[in-house]
Amino acid sequence: MLVLSLPSFPSFPPSLTFNPMAEVIPIGSDHAGFQLKERLVEELRALGYEPLDLGTHSSDSTDYPDYAHRVASKVEHHDASRGVLLCGTGLGMSYTANRHPGVRAALAWSPEIAKLAREHGDSNILILPARFVSEEEGVEILKTWLDAGFAGGRHSRRVEKIEQEPR
Ligand code: RB5
Repeated sequence: MLVLSLPSFPSFPPSLTFNPMAEVIPIGSDHAGFQLKERLVEELRALGYEPLDLGTHSSDSTDYPDYAHRVASKVEHHDASRGVLLCGTGLGMSYTANRHPGVRAALAWSPEIAKLAREHGDSNILILPARFVSEEEGVEILKTWLDAGFAGGRHSRRVEKIEQEPR
């Protein structure tokens, strides 16, 4: 009897496999958002995205603008189409990220707001207030935001006006 033996390839655990089609999502937080960021990095990977963790990497006190600028620069310069930021209230990340041209960073504390931030505002950065949402709420907000799309129509005109010079 002829027995064919197939070549065997090493099998890697899912977390080590490389998917060249995966969307890169830059993500960053200060110390207040560190724990939730770690969870969201895992969730992004499990959902098939490629998280690009731009820090912080511990719960030691640090300055939120450093991370907001890193993530917002990636979106501003089209190295990524979307990103995620976290700090205690979400406000510091919002002040900083929204100074970058073309960035629409939306602070969302519920899935409904996250959905509308994509549908009406075409937000390209999600900001989470880590001290005001549970881990599970944070995951749900992230998933909702990732899956929602821009509705266009009348909202396109409004979004275009955002980049106008202030008068
Ligand atoms: C840090 O204590 C806190 O100020 C920061 O995470 C953020 O809430 C600022 O907007």
